[in-house]
Amino acid sequence: MRSFRLLVALLLGGCSQAAPVPAPPVAPGPAAASPAVSTSASDPRDQAEAMDTRTPVPLTPMMATHQKEQMRDHLVAVDEIVTALATDDWPTMQSAAARLGSSPENTMMCEHMGAATPGFTGRGLEFHHTADALSTAAQAQDHAGVVKALAATLSACTKCHADFRQDIVTGPEFAVATGTPPPTHPAAPATP
Ligand code: HEC
Repeated sequence: MRSFRLLVALLLGGCSQAAPVPAPPVAPGPAAASPAVSTSASDPRDQAEAMDTRTPVPLTPMMATHQKEQMRDHLVAVDEIVTALATDDWPTMQSAAARLGSSPENTMMCEHMGAATPGFTGRGLEFHHTADALSTAAQAQDHAGVVKALAATLSACTKCHADFRQDIVTGPEFAVATGTPPPTHPAAPATP
């Protein structure tokens, strides 16, 4: 998000190494020759960002990639649960539900991903807590209970997506935003 980058650029102002916004590659042609053209305003990624009014979640490229991997696995788990519901395949439902529910790993992940964004970690933990009801219903072999818990879980997915989006930042920008260095691995503790 540009306002976030601007803030970080201001905070890092005294550091001669700080170059938070790398210049995009310049295409040959008339536009490149005209200094009146703002490269940032013409960057399609900046344009898309400006249209997206959701709260940005600053993440380093590695964290953002890892978050998207996790998200895609959340959707795979939902797919597995719906498929298993058709035949009341309880073991599949139980193992898929466990991936979505609360765990020390999921808690640590939410704490890292939300380190720079007030409210994001809490939303993630709430989502995992909601998904715990899926495990309970699958253990009880309660078909209607799984459907009900799945509906509540999906609501938690869609509400978070409505409110937050990724904002890719550099490691130093992340450190300024959180007061701590970015995790070297998303699953590792943020501080040594
Ligand atoms: C705490 C917030 C939160 C919750 C809860 C959440 N997501 Fe996400 N999800 C995100 C964010 C942030 C993104 C990145 C969106 C963006 O930048 O446009 C994302 C992206 C995704 C993507 C796109 C991945 C990609 O490769 O681009 C999928 C799929 C997804 N989520 C599925 C789910 C499913 C399924 C659930 C629930 C079972 C879920 N998410 C719950 C925050 C959340």
